[in-house]
Amino acid sequence: MKRGTRTFEFRGGVLHCRRTFSVGCYRAHSFLAFRGIARRRGECDIAVMTAQDFLSANKDRFLEELFDLLRIPSISADPAFKGDVIRCAESVAEHLRKAGADRVEVMKTPGYPVVYGERMVDPSLPTVLVYGHYDVQPPDPLDLWTSPAFEPVVRKTELHPEGAIFARGACDDKGQMFMHVKALESMVQSGEQPVNLKFVIEGEEEVGSDHLDGFLEQNKDLLAADVVLVSDTGIIANDTPSITTGLRGLSYVEVKVVGPNRDLHSGLYGGAAPNPINILCELVASLKDEKQRITVPGFYDKVIELSAEEREAMAEAPFSEEEYKASIGIGGTEGEGDYSAPERMSIRPTLDVNGIWGGYMGEGAKTVIASEASAKISMRLVPDQDPDEITQLFKDHFESICPKSCKVEVMVMHGAHPAVTPIDHPGYRAAALAMETTFGRKPVPFRGGGSIPIVTSFERILGLKTVLMGFGLDSDAIHSPDEHYGVFNYFKGIETIPHFHARFAEFHAG
Ligand code: BES
Ligand code: MN
Ligand code: MN
Repeated sequence: MKRGTRTFEFRGGVLHCRRTFSVGCYRAHSFLAFRGIARRRGECDIAVMTAQDFLSANKDRFLEELFDLLRIPSISADPAFKGDVIRCAESVAEHLRKAGADRVEVMKTPGYPVVYGERMVDPSLPTVLVYGHYDVQPPDPLDLWTSPAFEPVVRKTELHPEGAIFARGACDDKGQMFMHVKALESMVQSGEQPVNLKFVIEGEEEVGSDHLDGFLEQNKDLLAADVVLVSDTGIIANDTPSITTGLRGLSYVEVKVVGPNRDLHSGLYGGAAPNPINILCELVASLKDEKQRITVPGFYDKVIELSAEEREAMAEAPFSEEEYKASIGIGGTEGEGDYSAPERMSIRPTLDVNGIWGGYMGEGAKTVIASEASAKISMRLVPDQDPDEITQLFKDHFESICPKSCKVEVMVMHGAHPAVTPIDHPGYRAAALAMETTFGRKPVPFRGGGSIPIVTSFERILGLKTVLMGFGLDSDAIHSPDEHYGVFNYFKGIETIPHFHARFAEFHAG
């Protein structure tokens, strides 16, 4: 960064510093109130312009820059968008450079590249490794978006009266990842970066982070750190901050039932020929019993039951069944009766069909028995279930229940290990204090239902604990049409992150 001119003047009894500077291609110009104390002899002892001051003076630009990133359709699941995914990686790298990172590299993997950045300030200070992802989910179905998925706009909603940014990736995870880039810039500009910082921003999270373990293995020294900080989860509500202390794992399979060797006339053959769609439906339905327990033998063997105390502590997090039902327009909840709805969504495993197809799906009616039918099935896992073991149990079971008239194939898509993050770790305590400072309320520890495959890899490969300090809301519609992220949440994140680093440095120093 080239520093420009600084002039000082007193206005309203406060020393103001007018500072003109350029950061890469930006020219910013701002009046920043310095907490200066005029000394008797007319000298000024300029205290720091805080990261918070810098944020306040640059909010519009911080939004505009996020919009530029949101305009890139970095859909990792669809090879048609390969060029955009790579362009997005380069854009993230450029933003990190402009923010003040002193080493930035777009690093190759066998899949999409990892953007690495660092700004090391002092070897005696601890190092925080920030992880995020620049890839996004496909925006389908497109016609359900109020405004186009890759043309970000701000609109007000009931839960976001200050406005929310509507775009694919606004919350998951470009908006949340970018808070760390803007927090870095704010810290660099205010001259107060309390820790060494490293950034690992990947482009394959939404497709299972298949190449990230290899990347971590190959770059152990480069990535040496004291803790991992991730903003890719949520809080309970904007007035109820929370920190995610666990994530579910995942086993994802695609199944196919193959029947007759060709599509058949349903009148001529119907009655004796096996119908793969009917059979697939029966097989899928049999995967849960009347108590909604998953019937795959051995599925629950390694599930850790929480103690009564742990369940009581969980029940303290506010949850309204009525609001939950109203928010997604349902008449009632489903699932295991012995557990509360929040428990069923976090500490209990699940099995859900994510898509099912086969046969004639065009206009009008066609009398046909299809020769095959398929479904995509996700199983969310909890400690200590192992995704590979569960996938094998599922495969064995599904193959065993298929009637002789047909064949089944089970294809393994991806997996993730369940994760729990400790609350007695300096990283958790730093996040809790940082959030308490900026929200004015102590955050509640909270087990999340989603998955972030890489969290357990950080522990296994780099020996690092992860802090999940996210700022989204469940209602932000991630993975759905009209995904959005509160403007309040975006700025609250940028404000909170420097506090995390300051607290973490304090704890580290003892
Ligand atoms: N950021 C989400 C996970 C998440 C969101 C966790 C909100 C907790 C609260 C992440 O991008 C995601 O969608 N993960 C996938 C993982 C999969 C594609 C391997 C998921 O959970 O489905
Ligand atoms: Mn995410
Ligand atoms: Mn996601």
